[in-house]
Amino acid sequence: MSEAIADDAVTQTPLQKVWGEIEAHGLERYVAEMDANGYTVIPPELASPNGLCERLLEAVMDVAEKRNGVRPDLETGSTHENFKGRFQALAGGDGDSPIGDLMQSLLFEGEVFEEALMNPVLLTMASYLCGYSVVLSSMGCFMKGPNVSSFFLHSDTPLPSPLPPHALVCNLTYVLTEFNKANGSTAFVPGSHKWCRSPEGDEAKVGEGGNPKAIAVAAAPGSLLCWHGNTWHGAFNRTAPGLRVSVPVYMSRPYIRTQEGLVGEIPDEMLDRNPARFAILTQQGVAYGYKSQDDSMARGLRAFKYAKAYADEDGGPAFGAQSLYS
Ligand SMILES: [Fe+2]
Repeated sequence: MSEAIADDAVTQTPLQKVWGEIEAHGLERYVAEMDANGYTVIPPELASPNGLCERLLEAVMDVAEKRNGVRPDLETGSTHENFKGRFQALAGGDGDSPIGDLMQSLLFEGEVFEEALMNPVLLTMASYLCGYSVVLSSMGCFMKGPNVSSFFLHSDTPLPSPLPPHALVCNLTYVLTEFNKANGSTAFVPGSHKWCRSPEGDEAKVGEGGNPKAIAVAAAPGSLLCWHGNTWHGAFNRTAPGLRVSVPVYMSRPYIRTQEGLVGEIPDEMLDRNPARFAILTQQGVAYGYKSQDDSMARGLRAFKYAKAYADEDGGPAFGAQSLYS
C-alpha cells in the first residue's frame, strides 16, 4: 500500500481530532491542569474573543433588570445583598442564598448567548471532556452580592456514588466579574475528580471550620472556568461589596437527563443562523422521549436529519458514527 493511500485510509479518531483543536487554540496546559486538578482557568485572551465577556455582562444585566425590575448594582452589590429568593434553602434553612440569584434559560435572551455556546475554545473543552455528541444541559447566570452563606461542596455528576472516572457532565463557566475569595469565588478541592464519589457530611462544608482542602479559585473577568463533572466544588460567601457574576454553561453527554428540555424547542430561525453543530448542542439530535410508536419514528427521523447535517459539516467520522439514540 502506498503512503498516499494509507494516509487517505486513516480515519481520524475523535481523540485525535480534539487534540488538534487543543493545539490550535493553545489549550494544552489548561487541559493538563484540568486532568491533574479537575479544573482549570482559561485566561480572557483565549476564552473571551471580541469582547465577549463585556457583551455577556451587559446582556445579563439587561435580563436581570427585565426579570427583577431593577438594574443590578455592580459596584456595591446592594441590589443582591443578603439575597434570599428560592435558593435560600441551599443554606440549610438559615442565612441567605449561597448562590445569590440564578437566572435560568438564557439561550433565548439574545444572540450573544448563542455565541457564548459556540465559542470554539469552550467547545474544544466540552468535546475533550464529554465527546463530540455533547449537549447543552443548561445556561444560566449566577449573580451574587455580599452574603453570609457559603455553598456546600458537591459534584455536578447527577448520579449516586460511585461515579465513573470519565466526565458524564462538565461545567464551563464564564467569569464576568473578578473571582477571588472575598468576592465569593468558586471553591474547589483539587484532584477530587479522581475520587469518583460525592462529598459527604462535614467534608462538604466550605469556609470557617469547613473542608481544609477547599481552595478559592482566582480568575479575571473574561476567564472560562472549566471543570470535570466529578470535581468537588462549592462557593465561598462574598464579604466584599459588589457583585459576583458568572454564566455557567453546563453540558452533558446526550444520554444524561438535561436540566433544560430543548428538543423541538429551538426556533428554525435560531437553527438557521448557526452551524449544524448548534442543533446537536441544543439537543435536536436526541430522539428519546417518545410518547408512541409513531412519535418514536418521527423523533428518530428528526434527530437523524440534524445528526447527518452535523456529520456532513464536520467531515463525518468524529460524530457520525455515534448513536443517534444516545
Ligand atoms: Fe455545581
